[in-house]
Amino acid sequence: MPQRLNEPTLTRLSGFLAREMGLMFPRERWSDLERGMIPAAKAFGFAAVEECIAWLLSAHLTRRQIEILAAFLTIGETYFFRDPRVFEVLEQQILPELLRARRGGDQRLRLWSAGCASGEEAYSIAIVLHRLVRDLDQWNLFILATDINAAALAKGRGGVYGDWSFRNAPAWLKEHYFTREGEGHYQVIAPVRRMVSFEYLNLAEDSYPSLYSNSNAMDVIMCRNVLMYFAPEMAHMVVDKLNRALVQGGWLIVSPTEHARIAAEPLEPVSFDGAILYRKEAPPYQPPEVAPPLPEAEAVQTTPVTAKSLECAETMYGKGEYHEAAALLSALYDGAVIPVGPMTLLIRCHANRGELDAALELCDATLEREKMDPALHFLRAEILQEKGRSEEALDSLNRALYLDPELVLAHFVLGNLCIWSGRPEKARKHFRNALALLERYQPDDILPDSEGMTAARVREIIRSTMPDASPSSTG
Ligand SMILES: C[S@@+](CC[C@H](N)C(=O)[O-])C[C@H]1O[C@@H](n2cnc3c(N)ncnc32)[C@H](O)[C@@H]1O
Repeated sequence: MPQRLNEPTLTRLSGFLAREMGLMFPRERWSDLERGMIPAAKAFGFAAVEECIAWLLSAHLTRRQIEILAAFLTIGETYFFRDPRVFEVLEQQILPELLRARRGGDQRLRLWSAGCASGEEAYSIAIVLHRLVRDLDQWNLFILATDINAAALAKGRGGVYGDWSFRNAPAWLKEHYFTREGEGHYQVIAPVRRMVSFEYLNLAEDSYPSLYSNSNAMDVIMCRNVLMYFAPEMAHMVVDKLNRALVQGGWLIVSPTEHARIAAEPLEPVSFDGAILYRKEAPPYQPPEVAPPLPEAEAVQTTPVTAKSLECAETMYGKGEYHEAAALLSALYDGAVIPVGPMTLLIRCHANRGELDAALELCDATLEREKMDPALHFLRAEILQEKGRSEEALDSLNRALYLDPELVLAHFVLGNLCIWSGRPEKARKHFRNALALLERYQPDDILPDSEGMTAARVREIIRSTMPDASPSSTG
């Protein structure tokens, strides 16, 4: 295709896409970029592609813009049981070991297909688990499937696929796990569909791991054929965050062409005769960092716990060093009662490491003395939700709202829970309340207790989840 766009425009556009979406368009791929931008400009309502690009470059991309660009600029190529050796290793070694370790305990497993496209990878994982676990109803199995391509996510939710998606599949797959849906189309059976949750998540930008996107405490993450489209620094940042989203001993799986992208220290390559997977090893013990010495004037304190030492714990937490932050907080208080602020941080450290029982225990103990703290009830709801105890989570969210009816995130999470449990009218009410409360924030304001979610982001998620929710009523 002859080049229509000039060099400075293509240079700026490719830099912008790398920052906002992680996508890498080096000069050799500029013709792909132009080819994708022509229909994308039409979808945005522009006759001239140059005008569309100038408009896009003028601000941060919104989620809607990312979704449209993703539809034209990313490659959603995928199929069931792609790279069969990896699924053999999962079925014969990784998952049986994890199931053995959890059986009789909390009986939960969390897996994530990051960059899932239309969902074939996520359903392949679900099918392997379905084959391995006979007493499925006794387990809390959660498979998260995320992407930036809204059309691909919608296809995944529907679970209907054509023959091309089965090009590498074992013979038993269609027979046992699909029902025929017209000529040449097959739908994943409902029990397997229910195991997978499809959500929008931009690996280049969104905050993860996080309780909000349910993207923390993962046992296995598959992020295959995604990093290869990212610039090396972006791929490095994504691997770092995926590593933090894993529990100790968890596994990261990338495609063979992406091994060069994995340099993160705590990830150990483990070879399985034809497949290399990465395991997150427990970090070597590090004594808690000593709080920096204080100037004389500040040192006159009734308690040895200083704002600086707490700040130090918060910084560690921000860097994903949950183990170290928790050790520091415990050392600082050394058996004394921990006030609610640092205690909330300590609980989040446990939750983000997947130690949900410890997090819940601490939360309950703190609530004994801080019954009227809405943020603690909200945190309890997040933990319960992650443990699959949705009814109790609902109860805690209602308590949080009773204590603080303006807790915007509680309305937001309640709205989501109502959607998932098939109560759209209640969901609309909560989303409307959340949107009305969000009016008080600037777009870039980080919402309280949100782990980095901005007001604009929550607004966008609500609008795309329920376009007709409007703040006209705060009912
Ligand atoms: C080739 S598909 C991989 C599908 C599947 N993982 C597999 O290996 O079969 C790549 C997917 O990555 C998604 N993707 C690209 N950039 C992304 C980003 N910044 N965040 C999330 N997903 C992204 C694309 O939309 C596309 O669906």
